[in-house]
Amino acid sequence: MRDKKKQGNKPDQDPAVKYVDPLNPKQQSRRDFLEGTGAAVVAGAGISALGIPKAQAQSTGSDSRTAINVTVNGTSHSMDVDDRWTLAELLRDELDLTGTKIGCNRSECGACTVLMNGQPVYSCSQLAVWADGATIQTVEGLAQNGELTPVQQAFVVNNGPQCGFCTPGQLMTATALLNNNPTPSAEDVKEALVGNLCRCSNYNAIVEAVVMAGEEGGVA
Ligand code: FES
Ligand code: FES
Repeated sequence: MRDKKKQGNKPDQDPAVKYVDPLNPKQQSRRDFLEGTGAAVVAGAGISALGIPKAQAQSTGSDSRTAINVTVNGTSHSMDVDDRWTLAELLRDELDLTGTKIGCNRSECGACTVLMNGQPVYSCSQLAVWADGATIQTVEGLAQNGELTPVQQAFVVNNGPQCGFCTPGQLMTATALLNNNPTPSAEDVKEALVGNLCRCSNYNAIVEAVVMAGEEGGVA
């Protein structure tokens, strides 16, 4: 039988976590190390890939919370966020905007796409602190007074949603496209939506919907 004490773990501790000597608190557990370096890798990749500058956010004095100001769907929010929260977590868990979906949670599927300052971003791969000072639009911010936007209407007409899980992300990327190119061709749409996967493989209907939206009045 394994003797956990000899291996540096207290009997009631998770054996995956190395026991830290209370007389030597700077000793770091493996889990601490992995959590710390993981956050650093995500942050570095996000900045270089998306060109978004570091937040101007001011630390609240705690090591893990930061005060930010962010405008979401036209409403301004001043709030303290955990430095490790993603923008998707902020939107879904703190602001109850659950229209933004989390699929892969690692920049592969596009289900979590929202607009940050008008640009589509994967909110699963943006830290919430990076949204300080930004304007965010989610799928909840598209329809106004119960009236769907042309691209939402075109999705309905063309059966764009099947299971619908990818639809919010598809709509947000399509909205960004239509804002910049009001009458996109099918090729333009395919290129713009290449980062939004649909597990129902309903791509033809989605492309037809976005083209129709352009033909019938664009995004507004
Ligand atoms: S959940 Fe963000 S890209 Fe898949
Ligand atoms: S409609 Fe099901 S994943 Fe796209």
